[in-house]
Amino acid sequence: MTSRAIISDVAPRDGLQSIGPFVPTETKIALVRALHAAGVRRMEVGSFVSPKAVPQMADTGEVLKAALALEGLESTVLAPNRKGFEAAKGAGAHRVGLFMSVTESHNKANVNRSCAESFADLSAIVADAVAAGMKVRFNLSCCFHCPFEGVVPERDALDWIERAVALDPWMEIGIADTTGNAAPDQVARVVGHAVRAWPAPDGSSRMAYHGHDTYGLGVANVAAAWEAGCRVFDSAAGGLGGCPFAPGATGNVATEDVAWLFRRMGVETGLDWAKLLAAADLAAAVPGGLPGGRMRAVPAARKSA
Ligand code: HMG
Ligand code: MG
Repeated sequence: MTSRAIISDVAPRDGLQSIGPFVPTETKIALVRALHAAGVRRMEVGSFVSPKAVPQMADTGEVLKAALALEGLESTVLAPNRKGFEAAKGAGAHRVGLFMSVTESHNKANVNRSCAESFADLSAIVADAVAAGMKVRFNLSCCFHCPFEGVVPERDALDWIERAVALDPWMEIGIADTTGNAAPDQVARVVGHAVRAWPAPDGSSRMAYHGHDTYGLGVANVAAAWEAGCRVFDSAAGGLGGCPFAPGATGNVATEDVAWLFRRMGVETGLDWAKLLAAADLAAAVPGGLPGGRMRAVPAARKSA
């Protein structure tokens, strides 16, 4: 088994999307560059969504353009529908991050559709994206807990994961704890089942874990997902984040906390600790943000660069 974790930093997208005051495009680009300088080689740099729904992401095209100039960086942008996918393809994003929720009420709140409507639209997009040579991440929100429906039955989450994996044999699946209210045993069971049941054709895992840290279990849940065989993780520098349509959800698990976890576990991430802290400080200082994470405030950890 490989002892390397791939971290996709989502601070420029999930981290910023809920912030009220518009974050200047130059600040977003500075954050992308700081993360790249810290060794981040996968990043979610924005989303092509309705600017009425999420005004903060209106400049994604410009941020993506700057990200595409960075050597060795795989840039993802989110898209909820065909319009977003066409924008992502046209702008040259390496990967499109499609998204829907496994619960009807969150899907309706987030993208104003039923799960069936989203899945039908996204299924056709997957086929077109693969044909166009784009990488695809299929994100499933609320796999553990829904802000409107409570704890999600594991069978429901697994049913949607099974439907998504059937769309393409290589496509990456994002298993998301939208509200940060998952428990590690639940993560271990759901992620573990998905990793074992639906590997890529070469036997590798194609699951990714996307965690939030609202209840302080973000790092424990990442550890559970790792132990369950997951190798790709979303996290946000500075612990920023939250879906604007998931009431009560706060930041993503902080990248610096995840990096520290993996460092203590002897798992490679390719991240430069001192530069990552600098990027996390930058993220945490964005006006209007609600930063999280522990490592920025641990003096001994800060010194151990
Ligand atoms: P709607 O109003 O039902 O859709 O919104 P519509 O098709 O009627 O379009 C409304 C307007 O938006 C139209 O413009 C469209 O052209 C435009 P108008 O004619 O009024 O001027 N529009 C778009 N503009 C840009 N890009 C697009 C796009 N699509 C339509 N792609 C819609 C439906 C999905 C558009 C809306 O609800 C929306 O944009 N939702 C986005 C929600 C969102 O971004 N949520 C946060 C990201 S997901 C997340 O955070 C979870 C995740 O982190 C994992 C986890 O933690 O769970 C990924
Ligand atoms: Mg999220």
